[in-house]
Amino acid sequence: MIIAIDGPAASGKGTIARRLAQHLNLPHLDTGLLYRATARALLEQGHDLSDRAAAIASARGLALTDFDEAALRGRGMGEAASIVAAIPEVRVALVEMQRGFALRPGGAVLDGRDIGTVICPEARPKIFVTASVEARATRRALELKSRGEKVDYAAVLEDIRTRDARDSGRAAAPLKVAGDAVVLDTTKLDVEAAFKAALAIVEATL
Ligand code: C5P
Repeated sequence: MIIAIDGPAASGKGTIARRLAQHLNLPHLDTGLLYRATARALLEQGHDLSDRAAAIASARGLALTDFDEAALRGRGMGEAASIVAAIPEVRVALVEMQRGFALRPGGAVLDGRDIGTVICPEARPKIFVTASVEARATRRALELKSRGEKVDYAAVLEDIRTRDARDSGRAAAPLKVAGDAVVLDTTKLDVEAAFKAALAIVEATL
């Protein structure tokens, strides 16, 4: 069983994917971390985010281990990730790693932007998790605050709008709902209700 969870920033897809994986005892890959790690490696080596050749080399050199999740989830890294994620060769460099993970015997849960459309078109079920931009900004602001970052709601809202536009508007694997995905709107759902709704979608495909 390959479960594909896609959706925009702070929609709740990561939490849902993690909860489903725990519940079903499946491995989980947050594919956003791959793009975040690519951007971070680039910046750490002193390159600019607009340096395409360096971004491609950074993606090609990435290993699935040694992710410093706390550093990768900070404000600014999501934005940086979305800049390198628009480079087609960066995406190509990360495909094999994601497909390899998805094809593990026993199945897997992957979350991202293009899992159901590009990485695992054969996944079933595909869930597209979304929520209003205001609800997503509120969640992201709370998350950043809980990690000790100083947050300004208006700036977080602006970040999310910019990221939505870039992720949906890019030519390479844009964020969009796969034709056979079930859309789950979490605007009015708490974590528990969102998880239960996602689990019901999974169980309906068994
Ligand atoms: O999901 P997360 O916010 O960690 O993703 C960071 C960025 O990485 C996204 O805004 C998107 O540009 C990119 N991404 C992607 N494809 C994926 C996962 C993430 O393009 N499968």
